[in-house]
Amino acid sequence: MTERRLIIGGNWKMHKTPSEGVHAAKALRVKLINVSTVDVVICPPATGLVPIHAILRESNIKIGAQNLYWEDEGAFTGEISAPMLRDAGCDYVIVGHSERRHVFGESDDQLNKKVKKAMSAGLKVIFCVGETLAERNNGEMQTVVKKQIQLGLDGLTPAGSRDLVIAYEPVWAIGTGVTASPTQAEEMHGFVRHLLAKQFDETTASQIQIQYGGSVKPANADELLSQENIDGALVGGASLDPESFTAIVKAAEKITN
Ligand code: PGA
Repeated sequence: MTERRLIIGGNWKMHKTPSEGVHAAKALRVKLINVSTVDVVICPPATGLVPIHAILRESNIKIGAQNLYWEDEGAFTGEISAPMLRDAGCDYVIVGHSERRHVFGESDDQLNKKVKKAMSAGLKVIFCVGETLAERNNGEMQTVVKKQIQLGLDGLTPAGSRDLVIAYEPVWAIGTGVTASPTQAEEMHGFVRHLLAKQFDETTASQIQIQYGGSVKPANADELLSQENIDGALVGGASLDPESFTAIVKAAEKITN
């Protein structure tokens, strides 16, 4: 079996001013100083990227953005490009978070352009997929996720997928306190890996990290992260508190070691 490192991401969403973010980053730098076997990335709002990168640049914690635009520069008021994110110190960018899809109406086609642009600029992409509650209740979760993967990752080569992380985030579990059971999550992760094998090939699919997201907290991290096809977590609410985010990273470290 391919050894995949676990990856724990903190998606701060629209929380923390730059100074609050710097404060949290300083705490994380100390708390996570000895963590070397788990990939750790935090994704602050865009205004926090530069000062937080300055705090974390010598540490084992990477930073990521929550969104990008697919052009390098130009008359696109309010948007931020991939080269700007690289220069700000980002190694990662989240693409296709359910809030971007559902609140801001981003389409599969737009997300595909974002994925390709991010990768061509040297950013690793955390590509989010997941079904709504209505879709799950209708038994459509596999159809929905299949379409998101096929269209969002269209045109990517197996070599390009080295910079790809998938986050399976059932929309009904995001910010609700309701987590998918480890069995429900593992079932979908196995399905996502099967889709990746079809899209790329078996070897490539076996190397791609697939995170689970949706109400992950210290109390449920261990059980979720212990599943065969769950290679990490994308954490929203619980990532805002350095203490609880650290506990989740430590749970991942314990499983790894
Ligand atoms: P949550 O968010 O942990 O607050 O449910 C996860 C996410 O949206 O990435």
